[in-house]
Amino acid sequence: EKEKELIRVSWESLGKNKVPHGVIMFSRLFELEPALLNLFHYNTNCGTTQDCLSSPEFLDHVTKVMLVIDAAVSHLDNLHTLEDFLLNLGKKHQAVGVNTQSFAVVGESLLYMLQCSLGQGYTAPLRQAWLNMYTIVVAAMSRGWAK
Ligand code: HEM
Repeated sequence: EKEKELIRVSWESLGKNKVPHGVIMFSRLFELEPALLNLFHYNTNCGTTQDCLSSPEFLDHVTKVMLVIDAAVSHLDNLHTLEDFLLNLGKKHQAVGVNTQSFAVVGESLLYMLQCSLGQGYTAPLRQAWLNMYTIVVAAMSRGWAK
């Protein structure tokens, strides 16, 4: 319906290479919660946040994140098929020391990136549509923390 269309069209409008948008998202994330940078162990001996953000391992993670979002956008009609994948992804993030509370900040950073990248295209209904999808993804990942 309308929400799904907003998400699909806006995601496509970001272009084929989503990595630069992911970098905007994670720059914002580390601005809001700098301690998260320490969870990326390969980033421990880089100088500034900007140095970290341009390291190959880090860009690799950004690429992975963009691929997960891409998968969610492609599966808007059957997001439940990603349940097991997202639960396991949650488990991996618990293992590396991510806290489920940080996902709210990740969501904020995602919206920030959309606002930067879409400009006038960033509207209240679009924001809500993305937030709804993100909430479903995060709920599935958060199940990975359950004992
Ligand atoms: C793996 C950290 C958010 C997707 C990892 C790893 C770390 C990490 C340290 C393992 C090393 C690596 O593969 O680079 C974080 C932190 C996050 C975050 C601190 C923010 C709080 C996300 C989000 C997604 C995501 C929002 C996707 C929606 C992935 C994927 C992997 C991964 C696909 C690879 C898992 C595998 O090896 O099977 N993350 N992550 N991450 N992350 Fe994240």
